[in-house]
Amino acid sequence: MFCRLKSGGVLGIDGFEVDVEVDISNGLPQISIVGLPDKAINEAKDRVRSALKNSGFQIPLKRITINLSPSYLKKQGTFYDLPIALGIIKLSNGINIPEDFVIMGELSLDGKINSVKGVLPVVLSLKKLGYKRFIVPQGNSKEAAIVDGVEVYGFESLMEVVGFFLGEIKKEPTRVNLEEFFKDVESFDMDLSEVYGQYEAKKAIEIAAAGFHPIMLIGPPGTGKSMLAKRLITIMPPLTFEEAVEVTRIYSVAGLLDENIPIIKRRPFRSPLTNASESALVGGGTIPQPGEISLAHRGVLFLDEFPEFSRKAIESLRQPLEDGRVTVSRVGGRISYPAEFLLVVAMNPCPCGNYGNPYKPCVCTPLQLKTYQSRISGPIMDRIDLRVWVNPVEKEDLLGMNSGETSAQVRERVIKAVEIQRQRFKNSKTKYNSRMTNEEIKKYCPMTQEAKNLLKTAIEKMNLTGRGYMKVIKVSRTIADLEGEEKIASHHIAQALQYRIKEKTPTL
Ligand SMILES: Nc1ncnc2c1ncn2[C@@H]1O[C@H](COP(=O)(O)OP(=O)(O)OP(=O)(O)O)[C@@H](O)[C@H]1O
Ligand SMILES: [Mg+2]
Ligand SMILES: [Zn+2]
Repeated sequence: MFCRLKSGGVLGIDGFEVDVEVDISNGLPQISIVGLPDKAINEAKDRVRSALKNSGFQIPLKRITINLSPSYLKKQGTFYDLPIALGIIKLSNGINIPEDFVIMGELSLDGKINSVKGVLPVVLSLKKLGYKRFIVPQGNSKEAAIVDGVEVYGFESLMEVVGFFLGEIKKEPTRVNLEEFFKDVESFDMDLSEVYGQYEAKKAIEIAAAGFHPIMLIGPPGTGKSMLAKRLITIMPPLTFEEAVEVTRIYSVAGLLDENIPIIKRRPFRSPLTNASESALVGGGTIPQPGEISLAHRGVLFLDEFPEFSRKAIESLRQPLEDGRVTVSRVGGRISYPAEFLLVVAMNPCPCGNYGNPYKPCVCTPLQLKTYQSRISGPIMDRIDLRVWVNPVEKEDLLGMNSGETSAQVRERVIKAVEIQRQRFKNSKTKYNSRMTNEEIKKYCPMTQEAKNLLKTAIEKMNLTGRGYMKVIKVSRTIADLEGEEKIASHHIAQALQYRIKEKTPTL
């Protein structure tokens, strides 16, 4: 006796089709599974056996062989408990389970169905292959139901699914009202106007938000660096629906979705702690997981107290910053995750924190300064487009609680600049000025003669690297976009250059 049920698997943030084939034949009573890694096989067998028994099913005293194909793709063990158990029941009890249902779910020993990671990517990919009906754990049913044009049925237990296929339990497909979720997407519980003074730093984060430029905030303690960083997502344009789905796929694979809030509707803000390992940051592991940089995709990755991160962790950001993706190796191949994040780092200029502070002296020794400085390599510094000095708040600003514009006001300009870029790059893979190729810089960055002259002088005086030079142009493109100017003028270049200046900051 043989049957085949359909399931799925995840590679990176893409889904693929898996056939679960079950064969029951005469022979020594045993269950054998092929197509899974060794350890996962035994665990799956034990779970399926107990779940069947505790749901009141007899396990046939025969030889049961299960094949998960294609065998060359690495599969996560727990997805297949439910289709395996249903296959055995189908053959031994004769219930009708149509082959076009895609079935996934982990079983617990008592027959309950547990949520699994990566349901959304599977539903999206298998829909493209023509599948329309999905059986998923109840806890995953809302995330699956955000996909248009499919029927998703969520279940709590093996018995319940069997009842459904026997026609004894009626079940409506899960529905979610996405408009409801997106309703409050522009209201935040913090606002840029809560930060007093710091107008220069605020301008810099506006530029960062508009062009996705990596930014560094340097200054003494208690000047508002962390406050500013946390408010960045409040001045960024809302995610489009497609972007929200893209981000949600990553959270699905990471198992970080709330079962009642099936979509990540806001740009993520991730701030890993300084002891985060390289793999926590970039992803990977035996069962590969997206890291913090991918969880920050389309949002902000905030590394506070930047020099405290391990050198290895800091260096691991180099490639993703360039590519907008990260590739991690694992047994049996490599996988890649999207990682187009806005990098924001904050730090004190020296161990005591007061280097360059007009009000307090720095008490660090030259050796301390040097050690601190050596923690951040040249190549990483080179990738940071905007370096901003955050001074102590001016007394008048603090006393007068002068706050300047609200997030909504700034966001309006950012949205316009992002829209200009959307038009500019509509036929390109590039989305933001910070990611322009050299070709695109040539094409989209016309300059006035004065601007060209200024840039020329700056190369000579500031000893810019090739990358540094390109970055100045990219940043000035964004500044011009924020002003709605087509041609880059000398004051745009001047402003961009100011963000690469090394004075006052021993670490640059
Ligand atoms: N510019 C500011 N406007 C309003 N409040 C501020 C400002 N700067 C600092 N504060 C107050 O000081 C607290 C600390 O600010 P924040 O954490 O942003 O400082 P920081 O620059 O990140 O310091 P550190 O270098 O120690 O991390 C804030 O919670 C806020 O109450
Ligand atoms: Mg801070
Ligand atoms: Zn110091």
